[in-house]
Amino acid sequence: MSTHEQTVLAQFDAQARAYLTSAVHAQGPDLVRAQELARHATGRTTTAAALDVGCGAGHLSFAIAPDFARVVALDPAPGMLAVVRDAAAARRLPQIEAVEGTGDRLPFADESFDLVCSRQSAHHWRRIEAVLREMRRVLKPGGHLLMIDTEGEDDPLADTHLQTIELLRDRSHVRSHSPCQWQIMMKAAGFTVNVHERWPLRLEFASWVERMRTPPDAIAMIRRLQAEAPAEVRQALGYEEDGSFTIRIGLIWASPAQEFPCI
Ligand SMILES: C[S@@+](CC[C@H](N)C(=O)[O-])C[C@H]1O[C@@H](n2cnc3c(N)ncnc32)[C@H](O)[C@@H]1O
Repeated sequence: MSTHEQTVLAQFDAQARAYLTSAVHAQGPDLVRAQELARHATGRTTTAAALDVGCGAGHLSFAIAPDFARVVALDPAPGMLAVVRDAAAARRLPQIEAVEGTGDRLPFADESFDLVCSRQSAHHWRRIEAVLREMRRVLKPGGHLLMIDTEGEDDPLADTHLQTIELLRDRSHVRSHSPCQWQIMMKAAGFTVNVHERWPLRLEFASWVERMRTPPDAIAMIRRLQAEAPAEVRQALGYEEDGSFTIRIGLIWASPAQEFPCI
């Protein structure tokens, strides 16, 4: 296991229960839209299978499960998987199966799933190109990819500030990719993007740092960066008095491209 993978485990395993009840994760317009797109894609099929990569406490899996015969919720953190198993049983969703694994080495045969999806996990992936290629490999022909994640800023200055405060808050943060970067990565991995939407997401400062158990000295550095940020950064990230701020959640709905790209 790489050092980064160990950091991811250390950050998420102990905090699994907090993710089940976190309002930022348990609800949102992106979840409603995900459900709508997944339902539309399966139509009246009763045998469809879905894979949720980086399932965390399972909110995306729970949202789409009623339309699928099988939903594999995959995550490297055993603590998250235990929460998913308990919550799926409590919600009477026996079609959800919790599996340990990481996105860049998916333990499934080629063309196994009708839908491959992921929500608020990709900004932790060090080998994101490899994960996207794996997702394409396990998708059936005619299948769909649904990616939801916090987005970076297209303005490089605001983006640097955002990535810095995210890393100070959580050492498992790798990068929130900007809308332009997402378009490039999807094409390189062999996908055609059919829908790309985004919504604002306000992050309340106290619960944002509490969820990741950010140490006091890192909190102080974040607050100092925020206080000294140029006006254009404050405006782009909507900094508030107490440190709360607003980012964007992006949703991409894609399908395997007809021709596989040269990479
Ligand atoms: C914020 S939580 C996910 C939230 C969840 N998907 C939801 O909808 O509420 C991020 C998850 O990504 C997982 N993760 C991090 N790196 C990963 C990787 N390379 N492959 C798969 N999952 C990963 C973490 O273990 C963590 O559980």
